[in-house]
Amino acid sequence: MRLANNQFSFGWVSIVIHWLSAITIVGLFAVGWWMVDLDYYSEWYQTAPHWHVSVGILLCLVTVFRLIWRWCQPSPKGIGAKWEQIAAFAAHTILYLLLFVLFTAGYLLTTADGRGIEVFNWFTLPSMGELFEKQEQLSGDIHEFAAYGLIALALIHALAAFKHHFINKDETLNRMLKPSKQLNGDNK
Ligand code: HEM
Ligand code: HEM
Repeated sequence: MRLANNQFSFGWVSIVIHWLSAITIVGLFAVGWWMVDLDYYSEWYQTAPHWHVSVGILLCLVTVFRLIWRWCQPSPKGIGAKWEQIAAFAAHTILYLLLFVLFTAGYLLTTADGRGIEVFNWFTLPSMGELFEKQEQLSGDIHEFAAYGLIALALIHALAAFKHHFINKDETLNRMLKPSKQLNGDNK
């Protein structure tokens, strides 16, 4: 079982984190969208934001690990035309950037009132208080826009992956599903 990436394909660590993150992000988006309209008397009024924020912070830690893991080893070589490789690189970079905008805005929005974040009651992330005027409102708007932007770009990203798979019939999607056995000499 190959955990690490090589220059031809992703290893299991990158693959598992990619798909777990994708599912978590779609879940966070759906819960976020639903929870902002909850009635004060709903039983989810407190619980849903608590889960949303806790899962968001854990995803942030996983994403930091994901980037460190990525930079510690080769990335698989790009597939397709030069412009496609540039577009894919730009899209992946923007996806990562939007994630960090969401984490930061989410943190600033949640902690603006001076209270820390209780991550599943395991540990508390301290608040830095109100760092600028209208912090809650501004971070809330940025959080909302970044969330829509992320989901829109992820959709285009998924369509591009399907285009590679079904039209170009290349290895792009396969190598994000299972470490490729070809060309790399370690077929385990
Ligand atoms: C990938 C990560 C995340 C996604 C996709 C996401 C998505 C969303 C969405 C779609 C909303 C509803 C926006 C609206 O209509 O106003 C929302 C609200 C919210 N999110 Fe996130 N979120 C993420 C991470 C986080 C994190 C890390 C935190 C906190 C540390 C957080 C805290 C909040 C809070 C407090 C709200 C409620 C905002 C309000 O009351 O207007 N989110 N999120
Ligand atoms: C919220 C959803 C998603 C996010 C945020 C996301 C994000 C990313 C990122 C950041 C990378 C670059 C990995 C790296 O090299 O560091 C990547 C790669 C990839 N993603 Fe996604 N992804 C999502 C959903 C999907 C879906 C639904 C599909 C397919 C149907 C998909 C297919 C792929 C493939 C095939 C690659 C590898 C591309 C290559 O070989 O260069 N992703 N994704």
